[in-house]
Amino acid sequence: MKDRKKIYPKEAADVFARERLSARRYGHTLRVADTAEELARVHGIDPDRARLAGLLHDATRELSPDEFLHLAQSWRLPVGEPERESPKLLHGPVAAELARRELGVEDGEVLDAIREHTTGRPEMGPLSLVLYVADKVEPARDYPSVGRLRRLSREDLRGAAAESLRRSIAHNEERGRPTHPASIATLAWLEKTEEGA
Ligand SMILES: [Fe+2]
Ligand SMILES: [Fe+2]
Repeated sequence: MKDRKKIYPKEAADVFARERLSARRYGHTLRVADTAEELARVHGIDPDRARLAGLLHDATRELSPDEFLHLAQSWRLPVGEPERESPKLLHGPVAAELARRELGVEDGEVLDAIREHTTGRPEMGPLSLVLYVADKVEPARDYPSVGRLRRLSREDLRGAAAESLRRSIAHNEERGRPTHPASIATLAWLEKTEEGA
């Protein structure tokens, strides 16, 4: 594992994701990486770092609930009630920690983006917003508002993140499922700054 650090990080990240994921999820990973890279370019953010975050974001998505809880516990990652109920919510934080430990990724904003991509976080930075939105609008995503969201993502990243959060909260409500408190807080943060803009 150690000599991975010598390889150019994006290639190492590609292998890292590919060997942990089914073809279907690896395909999603590549589309998110492409979309994140493109969105970063549009918004004046470093496209290489966006691609790296995209490649790594779902790397642990196929672990079992027990594995998520076990790794989170042994690495002392925060585990709240929502994560205990639905351990796959930990796939971002666990992927970020694994990327740090095994790939030697030390870029804090890349790690934050990976960590926060499922729920969002109030005050999340531009790279986190890029990944959050790219995950929702990659070319294979297909839901009624995706075309509008894709256009919005190029004009207004924060607006696109807010719209996407509103959609997922509404979706949860329709299905009687709780929304993670971090998502509600992130939407409130985005809406507050939208109003102030
Ligand atoms: Fe994910
Ligand atoms: Fe994803």
